[in-house]
Amino acid sequence: MLSGMSVQYSRGAAITGWGKCLPPAVLTNADMATFLDTSDEWITTRTGIRERRVSHVQLGELMYVAAARALACAGLDGRQIELIVAGTTSYDDQVPNVASGIQRRIGADGCAAMDVNTACTSFLYSLSTATAMIRSGVVRNALVTGAEVITPFIDWTDRNTAVLFGDGAAAVVLQATETGEGLLSERLGCYGDSREILRVHGMGAAYAHQDRIIGRTEWQFEGQDIFKKAVHGMAIACDEALAKAGKTWSAGGSA
Ligand SMILES: CC(C)(COP(=O)(O)OP(=O)(O)OC[C@H]1O[C@@H](n2cnc3c(N)ncnc32)[C@H](O)[C@@H]1OP(=O)(O)O)[C@@H](O)C(=O)NCCC(=O)NCCS
Repeated sequence: MLSGMSVQYSRGAAITGWGKCLPPAVLTNADMATFLDTSDEWITTRTGIRERRVSHVQLGELMYVAAARALACAGLDGRQIELIVAGTTSYDDQVPNVASGIQRRIGADGCAAMDVNTACTSFLYSLSTATAMIRSGVVRNALVTGAEVITPFIDWTDRNTAVLFGDGAAAVVLQATETGEGLLSERLGCYGDSREILRVHGMGAAYAHQDRIIGRTEWQFEGQDIFKKAVHGMAIACDEALAKAGKTWSAGGSA
C-alpha cells in the first residue's frame, strides 16, 4: 500500500453540474421471483435492493441524456467541453468507443474522448482521471459519466448474480478552480490476484472463436470473497484518502 502523505493541489476540479438517466422499465424483486428461486425478503435483507431498471435503449443513449442534463446544470454548452471520460464495462461497441458518441451528440467537436473500464469502480476511476488532467492543466473542464446497460449480459438463470445488477447512467461536469477547491484526494487500487472471484465468461474477445452467442454469459462469482475484499479495500482506501487530504475521521478534524 502507498503511504498516505498529505498533498495539496494548487489547481482543483470542482463538480459544477450533474445529471442522471434511468430507463422507465422496472423489474422488482417480486418480478424476479416469478422466474428464479428467490424472494423479496432474501434480496432486500442481504443487499437492500428492491428493484432494478432495464433499458430499452443502448448505453450511449442513456449516457447522452445524463450528460445533457449535467451540462445544463453547469450552464455550459457542449462545445466548451475539452475532455469526455466514459466509465463503463458494458460498451455498445469496443470500436468506436462510447465517449466519442457522446462527443458527437453534445457537439464537443475535437475534444479528447476516452472510455474507462474498471467494472464497478469505473465512475470513480473516471472521476480521478479527469480530475488529474484538470489539476495538471491538460484540460480546463471535463464531462465524466458512469453508466451501465448490463442487463443484456445477465445470466437470467443464475440467482446468485441476476438479482444484483441493473441499467442506468449518471454524469458530472468538472471545472478547474484556481484555489484548489474540488476533489481533495483519492486512493485508487486493484486486487489483481483475485481476478477469478468475479469473471464474466462470454463478454470479451477471448470468446470470439468459441462460437458463442454474443451476450450469452456465464458468471464466475464468489459473492462472499468479493464482499470481504471490497469492505477491506474500501476501509484502507478511506484511511489513505483522508490522510492524503490531511483530514481525520472526526468531523472537520485535521491530521
Ligand atoms: C451476493 C451476496 C449478497 C450473497 O449473500 P451471502 O449471504 O454471501 O449468500 P451466499 O452466497 O453465502 O449464499 C447463501 C445461499 O443463498 C443462495 N442464494 C444466492 N442467491 C440467492 C437469491 N437471489 N435468492 C435466494 N437464494 C440465493 C445461495 O445459493 C446459497 O444457498 P446454499 O447455502 O443452499 O448453497 C453477498 O455475498 C454480497 O453482497 N457480495 C458482494 C457483492 C458485490 O459487492 N457485488 C459488487 C461487485 S459485482
